Formats: sequence, C-alpha cells, structure tokens
Amino acid sequence: MYRTHTCGELRLADAGQTVTLAGWVQRIRKLGGMTFIDLRDRYGLTQLAVDEEAPAAVRSAAGRLGREFVVQATGAVVERTSKNAKIPTGEVEIRLAQLAVLNAAEVPPFTIEDESDGGEELRAKYRYLDLRRNPLRRALALRHRVAQEARGFLDAQGFWEIETPFLIKSTPEGARDFVVPSRVHPGEFYALPQSPQTFKQLLMVAGYDRYFQIARCFRDEDLRADRQPEFTQIDCEMAFVEREDILRTFGGLMRHLFREVLGVALADIPRMTYAEAMRDYGCDKPDARFDMRLRELTALMQGRGFAVADGAQYLGGLCAKGCAAYTRKQLDELTDWVKRPQVGAKGLMYARLGEDGGIKSSVDKFYAPDALRAVAGAFGAQPGDLILMLAGGRRQTLAALSELRLEVGSRLGLRPKGVFAPLWVVDFPLLEWDDEAQRFYAMHHPFTSPQPEDREKFASSRREDLAQVRANAYDFVVNGVELGGGSIRIHDAGVQQQMFSVLGFTREEAERKFGFLLNAFKYGAPPHGGIAFGFDRLCAMFGGADSIRDYIAFPKNNAARDVMIDSPSRVDEGQLRELAIAVAERKK
Ligand code: AMO
Repeated sequence: MYRTHTCGELRLADAGQTVTLAGWVQRIRKLGGMTFIDLRDRYGLTQLAVDEEAPAAVRSAAGRLGREFVVQATGAVVERTSKNAKIPTGEVEIRLAQLAVLNAAEVPPFTIEDESDGGEELRAKYRYLDLRRNPLRRALALRHRVAQEARGFLDAQGFWEIETPFLIKSTPEGARDFVVPSRVHPGEFYALPQSPQTFKQLLMVAGYDRYFQIARCFRDEDLRADRQPEFTQIDCEMAFVEREDILRTFGGLMRHLFREVLGVALADIPRMTYAEAMRDYGCDKPDARFDMRLRELTALMQGRGFAVADGAQYLGGLCAKGCAAYTRKQLDELTDWVKRPQVGAKGLMYARLGEDGGIKSSVDKFYAPDALRAVAGAFGAQPGDLILMLAGGRRQTLAALSELRLEVGSRLGLRPKGVFAPLWVVDFPLLEWDDEAQRFYAMHHPFTSPQPEDREKFASSRREDLAQVRANAYDFVVNGVELGGGSIRIHDAGVQQQMFSVLGFTREEAERKFGFLLNAFKYGAPPHGGIAFGFDRLCAMFGGADSIRDYIAFPKNNAARDVMIDSPSRVDEGQLRELAIAVAERKK
C-alpha cells in the first residue's frame, strides 16, 4: 500500500496514529537541527518533520530531497508547536520514521506555488506542472463538479446521455470547419463537428426525446479569452416542446448548477428581446448587473449645424452617475480608450451636469443650454452626472457604446464578482444580411425555426420582409457573457428546404450537404428544440475568471497552438502521400 491517507486529510484528532503519505515535495526548510518538508498531493499539503532523533536513513534521505521529488513518508501524527491556520492540516505534522524517494525530479522550470514565477508561455509548455498548482487544481475540481451536477440533474429529468460522432461532415454554424483527410477515400475529407446539432436533431427523429451530451466541439475561428478552437458544450435537445418548455427546463438546470456549485440562489430569469437589448445596451448580451441604459439622441441632436451629429446614422450615449467631476485628463483618457481599434469610435462627446444646475459640454458651440438640458432629460440625469456620447454608423456606434458602458461600469465598481445577473435574450432576427457576400446568413444556424407569427414574412421573397423575420431562438446570458444558446427547430422538410433556399443554397447543394436531414424529416420528425451551454464558459463564470483557458486541462494558446505537445506540426511526407495530399505543394 503506497499510502494510508492523502495529504489533505489529517487533523488533530488523528494525533498518535502512524500513517503513510505519498506525494510531491513542495518545499524544504531547515531550522536548526530540524528539516520540514511540505508534502503535496491533489488533496492538500501536510508538513513532514525530520528531527535529530529520526533514523539516520531518514535524515540522509531528507538531505537529498529536492523540489518535486516524489516520496513516500511514514511516521506518527503529532500536534505542531507552531500551527498554520491557513491550511486544514495545519495543526499537525508527521514525525518521520521512514522516507523513501519514489522518484527524483529535475528542478522545475518555475515555482509550483499559487503565485508562480513562471510566465504564461513557460507554464503552457509544462502544463502538467502548472496543473499541480492550487489555482488550476481548484479550477478542474470545479469543472468536475459542474459536469457531475449537470449529469445528475439531466438524468433525473429523464435525459439520456448519447455520444455523437467526431468524424462527420460539415455542420455549418458560422465558423470554419477543421477537416480530416480520409486515407481510405483519397481526396475526401471528414469534418470535425462544430456542434452535435444535426445529430441531436436526428436523435429526436429517432424518438429519443430527451438527449444531452457533454460534447466536444471544434471551430476554426479567431481566438479570444472566451473562445478555444476545441471547447465543450452541455448540449441538449427535447422533442414535443415549445420555447417555454425549454426555458423552464434549462432555466432549472442553470438554477440547479448555481445553487449546488456556488451556493447562489438565482431569482427568476428575466427575458429581454434582442431589439430591447440592442436599443438599451448596444449588444445582444448585456451585463445586467447594472442599469446605465443607452439612449438614442439622433433626432434631438441633429439639425443644429454640428457636422458630426448631422452626418451620423446614429447618435447615442449613456449617463455615468456622479461622474461630472471627471477631470479633463480622465476624459481625454476615456476618449483615447474609445478610439482604440478594439472599440473604434472616432471621438467622444460629453456633457457635465454641474451641481449648480449648469451644463458644460464638449459641444457647447452647437448646442444651447436648453438643447443640452433636453439631452440630459433623455437620461433622467441629475446634477453631478456625466453624459458620454458617440456618433457614427448605427451598428458600430452601438457596439462602441456597449463597450464604453462596460468600461464605465467597471470603473464605477458596478460589475462586482460574485453577483450574477442572468437573462434570456429572445426573439433574435432569423437572418443577417451580408453586404459583401450579398446574401443572408442564419443568425443562429439554418435549422432554427422562424417565429410562428413571422411565417408569412418568411414566405416572402423580399429582402426587407426576410430581414424582419424573428427566430424562435434564445440565448442565456450572464453578466455580459453568452453562456448558452438554442432554438426551436424547423421540423418540416418543406420549411427547411425553403430556409436553405433563402440562404442561397441551390436544391442540389442543399441535397448534397443536408440530404440526410431533409430525408429524415420525411419519416416523422417531431416538433423539437434545444440548447447548448458553453461548458468552459460556465466553469470560468463560476470560478470568477474571464478566460476559459484555466478551466480546460490542456488548452491551446491564443495562436491556437498546443505548445506542450507542439501542435499543429508537420507530418511525414509518406503520411501525406498515403492521404493523397499533394506533397509538392507543401514544399513551396
Ligand atoms: P452556439 O454556437 O451558440 O450554439 O454555441 C453554444 C454555446 O457554446 C459556447 N461557445 C464557445 N465556447 C468556447 N469556445 C468557443 N469557440 C465557443 N463557441 C461557442 C457559447 C455558446 O453560447 N448547436 C447550437 C446550439 C443549439 O442550437 O442547440 C450551438 O452550437 O457559450
């Protein structure tokens, strides 16, 4: 037996017992004739003590130890003279009677401490060492908990966990596919799934009316803090349901996870339409921890001879409560902030509401005090408030205002960790027009059903009508993060065919790409719908982190590389030849 206990387990009540522990040497301290060794495993840290009375073999082994050696230690549990209240095992130590080195270790390239001295790149290269650190261990423990709680909840609700294949053909979800060449069928490729979307729908046709899977998804898209090329979804589908059934069931799942994992009781999850979200927050995933709604001022501010306003498609702003005292320097800095390429505004206009009722603005030249008072009125602004305004194209300006709102919210401390403001965002547009490609794209995916009220518009061939069709789709948003999204699906082969035609697929193309689904719909497809939650994002949200990377055991870096295993990497020419991939091409 390698160990009788783990390193996180022993307490004062165990004093007097002889125990054997096994783990990694975290730290060695020599104090006079004593040697103290912190022994670590996944469960915690226990102090080992080697005193002058310890057997010579133990003293000699202790003298040879280095950081991260793997050892087995046997001795008596004793009460410590100087206790460490910071760790659960801090009241005891083990007086060693035996010490065996199970494996020596080279000096690790960075310290395995909560605050490591290793840079990100180095820690990524030695991820298995980084994973020994507490913050990562806690993150993965949390991930495990969330997975188990989700499974338990869904199982209790009658959902079956069913795996779907990885080697499939492209399921369009808006990103590029990762493709895998077939050796057996030269020149042909599999695609890795961007999600199990079509398979879960086929499971509904098969009659398995409550499905879930903690599913790996692959998307070749630009990376961000909350995006990985392979990530995990809690993917779910139900048959014989309407939107309300889905929102109730999965609102229930979220409430369960927040309660069981975090001890947070979510109140009812409010709903907001996409149109309201865009109007009031400038984006479709508002951080609802704070109000600070945007107001459109286009009509109020145009026609006063101010070219910036007159030339703008949209002019709007927000009211930063109590910020009228912002200095010129602070405002200049905020102006630079909105002009960064990530935000992309051309400039920032402001109006300060003095405590004396007067208004001073950066656009005084064009607006008389009355006009500015009307602007302030639009926000219900009070003396002491600061109004910040942006102008330009509607889409870009709303996006920039949304960023500015988050930034001002952060500066004002309105986005505290540990406070969760969940939302269902509903009634998304079904289609998005792409000017460049001169065609519509599905905003969610091509299997999403139009809202029943908008069926007529959907049947129209006019672009304006189609642009107004709302989807029976919903997103689950918490604190400005899209944690999940889904829809009621099309289950009628004719409607699905029409959707493909609106998206510009010819009949042949639709047949070639989605014939399997259209065919399945001929054999009794039930009404169905579902949702997928971003599992990594959910874990990061629970852990209070912005990046999902530390909630994934072996993530890619922001250049989509795994620097530990050095992937992607070249393959042998023989392997390429076998796959019928032109070798000459690659040499160039
Ligand atoms: P969608 O594309 O909205 O829907 O994805 C669902 C959720 O998955 C998470 N997510 C990601 N997480 C990390 N890295 C990524 N690259 C990434 N992309 C998405 C988000 C998102 O809300 N098949 C549909 C679901 C359905 O209709 O049922 C789908 O995949 O949290």
